[in-house]
Amino acid sequence: MSSEDQNTRRNAESLDGDLAALMDQAREVASHSYSPYSGFKVGAALKLTNDKVVTGTNVENVSYGLTICAERSALVRAVAEFGPAIRIAAVAIANLNGAASPPCGACRQVLAEFILPEAPVVFPAADGARVMPFNEVLPLAFEMKLK
Ligand code: THU
Repeated sequence: MSSEDQNTRRNAESLDGDLAALMDQAREVASHSYSPYSGFKVGAALKLTNDKVVTGTNVENVSYGLTICAERSALVRAVAEFGPAIRIAAVAIANLNGAASPPCGACRQVLAEFILPEAPVVFPAADGARVMPFNEVLPLAFEMKLK
């Protein structure tokens, strides 16, 4: 494993206190998951720059395609509660299935709209909790630069 990988891979116990607490909130909200189709219970907790924490969980739909992921459900909740000027300072993702669950591509693009580039993102990986800055989680987000 490269030293860069070693820097981003840490066990949950060695996460700094704030991130460990955020992870606990993500795990807690995952118990509210509505996931009768996949059985995969995901929770997300967003720490905002105003120091508030907003959580969300996945809400599935019988159509499958209309399912909302935990990360996006937390994000829309944060905007609804605190308005469009919010900025995300850290993200934690958890699941109750003991599986790896990095944020999906759609959630990465949606988070990009509101997140600080260096914000840590912690998620369950194959070998424990993994922490990465957002700009490494999504290096090349779509942007609209009109001429
Ligand atoms: N899911 C999330 O909540 N977040 C992700 O980033 C990926 C997947 C949910 C959607 C669905 O309810 C279940 O996990 C299985 O895909």
